[in-house]
Parts: sequence; structure tokens; C-alpha cells
Amino acid sequence: MMRKTKIIHVNSEMSNETLVDRLTEAAQCLSNGGTVAFPTETVYGLGANALSDNAVNAIYEAKGRPSDNPLIVHIASMEMLSELVVEVRPYVEKLMAAFWPGPITFVMKKKAQIPLKVTGGLSTVGIRMPANVIALELIRLSGKPIAAPSANLSGKPSPTQAKTVIEDLEGRVDYIIAGDSAEVGLESTVLDVTGEAPIILRPGKVTCEMIKEVVGACSFDAAITKDKIETDGVAKAPGMKYRHYAPNAPVQVYMGNPTEMVKCFFEAVISCSQKGTEKVGILTFEEEAMVLERMIALEGISSDNYYIISAGSAKDLTAYAKILFESLRTFDAALCTYIIARGVEEVGLGEAIMNRLKKAAEGKVTRI
Ligand code: TXA
Ligand code: MG
Repeated sequence: MMRKTKIIHVNSEMSNETLVDRLTEAAQCLSNGGTVAFPTETVYGLGANALSDNAVNAIYEAKGRPSDNPLIVHIASMEMLSELVVEVRPYVEKLMAAFWPGPITFVMKKKAQIPLKVTGGLSTVGIRMPANVIALELIRLSGKPIAAPSANLSGKPSPTQAKTVIEDLEGRVDYIIAGDSAEVGLESTVLDVTGEAPIILRPGKVTCEMIKEVVGACSFDAAITKDKIETDGVAKAPGMKYRHYAPNAPVQVYMGNPTEMVKCFFEAVISCSQKGTEKVGILTFEEEAMVLERMIALEGISSDNYYIISAGSAKDLTAYAKILFESLRTFDAALCTYIIARGVEEVGLGEAIMNRLKKAAEGKVTRI
């Protein structure tokens, strides 16, 4: 199914008047059951009216996604929330006040008017108020709650730049709102708040520690805990059900101290250069990338055999989170035959980074 896709260029510096002007047509399309890809602060989303079965079907069709996966419903005001969920527990109100609009999704008991199509048959629904003026304005203008998964073709890393959305979805959706790059770079924290205390179903920018600070308790779902990296080596559950967030080239994650890491990367580059036909993509911190580049230069190895992306300083994981998904795609575009990504400790934002890396690597994580 091919569609004529209209691309609308916007940025967050525009006056509200200009924004409204640019977004009105796409918002109308949303209220009429169409599909619109738009920026959020986490990743780009592919939106449709959450209250319409047909509109939601169009999302699945555009993404080529199995329809048993629950979608997140995006809102622009607290008024919208009361129409969608049965109740909001007092501790959840506190969390909403602390983190909304922002990169966190709350899973709550749904009202009947949300189609089961949206929730993958579940009686709960994930709701998020994004912190991006373009997303908020688009949702507000449409007057509808907007169901939106990440705006990638199924199985690919989530898009954080407009050009990536265009690459994946042009000809498959009605509109693409091409705005700025997503600031966070990883999808929202998904928090189950149906019980007495919150449980993290998917780690994100809003961390377990941050949630604990507001409501005193927070834990990880068993599915996350079982995949934790053990201190003595490999992931507990290598080989995951789906290859997810995945580039074409196979991914391997290594973690360890900076000296060992640089040695490991260098050996991979040397091996590629000796084989002649292989090219390794390496994603690591700038401190390690600099040393590695110098070692490679001294050896005089051809750039046909390696591609290095520096993920910002080891002291601050923000940059790593922001560029992770696009880097995986960049390695594919550079025709890397395999990818090595630097693992990080699973604390704070490191939880979310490792969660995505483990999926991209199908659990292939080695501590050296
Ligand atoms: O940051 C984000 O969350 C982005 C932007 C566009 O908002 N959206 C996103 O959607 O990542 P998606 O569809 O790629 O991931 C949604 C995930 C599901 O895979 C599932 O893990 C969880 O959210 N989820 C949604 N509704 C749920 C529910 N009712 N129960 C349990 N998990 C749910
Ligand atoms: Mg997704």
C-alpha cells in the first residue's frame, strides 16, 4: 500500500502561531483517521486516533508490525486522561506531577472506549504526555488521544531524526512532521502503576532512583531483572525472543575497564584488516575512541576496515543514549559487517542503554 506522504518542516524555535499554522492540516488528518509521524523528546512516533480501530490498523500496516503489541496513547492535557483510564491512584498523581510532560508512560486500567486493538487485547493502557511542543500542539489540535509507537519499520532501531523517519516511512503514512532531533534518544520509561507500588516494564530516562525519590518505592519487572549482566561475565539470558532495535549487521556488546576495552577494539580492527573483507563498527566513549584512533593511525590501517563513533564522555551517559539508535543505522549505511558497542553499568540511565543494547545484540554481552 503506497500513500502520498506530505512532509512538513517545523522546529521548536518557531512561534506558536507558525506552529499551529504548519500543523493544522496534519492534525485534521489525524482526527479523520490518518497517520502522522511526529517528533517527541524520546524518539519519533507514528500517530493515529487511539479511539478508532481503522486508524490504529493503519499504524500496524505502515510499520509492518505484529498487531499483538500494545501501543502507547499520547495526550496533551490532564482532561484527556480522565476519559481514558478508570482511576489514577494518589501515588500515580504524584508521579505525573513530577514527570509529566516527559519521557514516562504509565500503564493503567483502561476505560472501555479504548479499542483492544490499541492495547494488544490487554485491559490496561499505557499513557504518556510528551514534553515536546510540536507533539503537544499536534495532539491538542487533533482533539484526540493519539496512539503512537516509535516511527520505525518493525524491528529497526527507533528513529530519533526526521531523515530516518522519512527513510523508513515515506510512502507508507499520510504526514511526516520533520522537526528537531529527539533529545533523549531512547523510548520512554514504561511504568506499571496498576498495583500498590510502581514496577518498571521498560527502563528509560526517568530512572528507578528518580521514581523512588518521589514515591518511596519502585522495582523492576522480572523480565528485566532476569536479563541483568552478572559481574562474572555473560548475560543471564542470551538469545532473546525477537531481534529488536536491530541494525542489519550483528551486534556484540563488550564491557570492562577502559584499557581492556581499547585493547579489545584494537584487536577487532586488526583482525578485520587482516581478513581484508570485514569492517567493524565501534561505538564507544570519546576517551577510548581517541586512544583507539591513535593506535590505528600508527598501524596505518585502512578505513575500509573500521568505523568508529564516539558516544560522548564516559562521565555522562546522556550523549550515548541520544546517539545510540542512529549510530546503529550509521554502521549499516557504512556497510559494517559487524558492530561492537561498549556496554555500561546498569545504573541510572545505564539501565535503559543496556536494555536496548542487549536486545540489539540478542543478549550477546561479554564482560572482559
Ligand atoms: O518514548 C516512547 O514511548 C515512544 C514515543 C513515540 O512516545 N513510543 C514507543 O512506543 O516507544 P512503542 O510502541 O515502540 O513501545 C511501546 C511499549 C510496548 O512494546 C510495551 O512494552 C509497552 O510500551 N506497553 C504499552 N502499553 C502497555 C500495556 N498496556 N501493558 C504493558 N506494556 C505496555
Ligand atoms: Mg518501538
